[in-house]
Amino acid sequence: MDQIIIQGGNPLKGEIAISGAKNAALPLMAASLLSPEPLTLRNLPRLADVVTMTQLLEQHGVQINSSADSENGSSITFNAAKISNTLAPYDLVRRMRASALVLGPLVARFGEAKVSLPGGCAIGTRPVDLHIKGLEALGAEIELDGGYVSARAQKGLVGGKVIFPFVSVGATENVMMAACLARGESVLMNAAREPEVTDLANCLVAMGAKIDGIGSDTLIIEGVNRLSAATHRVIGDRIEAGTYAMASAITGGELTLSGVSFDLLETVFKVLSQSGVVLEKTRGGTKVSLDQGGLRGVDVMTEPFPGFPTDLQAQFMAMMSVANGAAMITETIFENRFMHVPELARMGANVNVHGASAMVRGVENLAGAEVMATDLRASSSLVLAALAANGETIIRRVYHLDRGYEQIQEKLSACGAIIERKPDD
Ligand code: EPZ
Repeated sequence: MDQIIIQGGNPLKGEIAISGAKNAALPLMAASLLSPEPLTLRNLPRLADVVTMTQLLEQHGVQINSSADSENGSSITFNAAKISNTLAPYDLVRRMRASALVLGPLVARFGEAKVSLPGGCAIGTRPVDLHIKGLEALGAEIELDGGYVSARAQKGLVGGKVIFPFVSVGATENVMMAACLARGESVLMNAAREPEVTDLANCLVAMGAKIDGIGSDTLIIEGVNRLSAATHRVIGDRIEAGTYAMASAITGGELTLSGVSFDLLETVFKVLSQSGVVLEKTRGGTKVSLDQGGLRGVDVMTEPFPGFPTDLQAQFMAMMSVANGAAMITETIFENRFMHVPELARMGANVNVHGASAMVRGVENLAGAEVMATDLRASSSLVLAALAANGETIIRRVYHLDRGYEQIQEKLSACGAIIERKPDD
């Protein structure tokens, strides 16, 4: 396991090219199972989770051919003409919850799938009951046995109506992909509207799917017999962009972020502006700096898109821990997404958690310390805190970072951060 050592206090200055979105790439890769013809994805980020999904698809029999892209990311062609098995094993699924996204495509195209239950993860139990109920509404017969979800649809799936009791990104994606090959029309209501869901829908349409209502909370899908080949460019990663925008603000620097469209971050940028961050659209992208008054405390509640994303909650907390005033941060999406609080406290942050809310009272300065990463976004919040802290911070278990941030060390050091990575002693 590796650790990252950061000497804090340097304002970040320069440009960061934002990579392709992890949370678009993973469902897009799973969508390759829906077609016997090749799907080429461009601007794929080089991340541990993309490698895990590639391994999962390969063990299903998908042929993978990659070529380096001209941009940061890579271009990979996935050919699912011949699938050797429809089993997604525990040892792969347990590593990455998004593995469950092969369930819908497999049962829709092959009439069967056996996918390990993902198990919990650091931020909560994260069941897949909405995925299962949605697929059952399309006629899949589903059993849970021995920690696996077994789905069958020998006569193929039939279009149906799915009303999600609450917004689920993964369940929307799984059921939408399955509905593309179901006989007849499916209607998905209270569907997730995250940009990554929209990106997946656009790719499915490019493959020949018939989807109306893209970007809204009601998706109407007319099933087709077969999907064809397509090439699709993965959208920029709004969570990576939001993370680096906060890195610029917390260090009092000036970063220009390119490769992601401003409108994917509207709510985030509104909140950042309220907290004293200056955001300017430039030819090169979005320039992020701090206004004279410095950072101010602003309350935030995480919500499904277009609300404030739960994936930026931990990073925002790090930023608020050195703001003037207080900020109430409420997490409404996951039941246990405050694992970063005790680690930030070790650096001097003043945070009190009451159930789903955390009251952050800004302090003058954070102090470097030894801290432990617990999950992907918690680890990026520790990086932000370390960049602003006085002195040296050692962050252990940084493999969490590798899941979602391509070349984070290179991108930060190119903008003046004093950051090095070495094996845990
Ligand atoms: C996606 O996870 C993202 N991951 C998450 O990003 C993100 O935090 C989340 O959406 C919310 O935006 C990918 O896209 C790969 P959900 P997903 O289904 O689909 C509960 C990151 O850091 N739920 O919208 O798993 C669930 O427990 C990751 O990049 C059920 O109860 O999230 C959670 O509390 C973390 N039953 C809530 O709904 C279900 O069947 C939202 O989950 C499904 C979900």
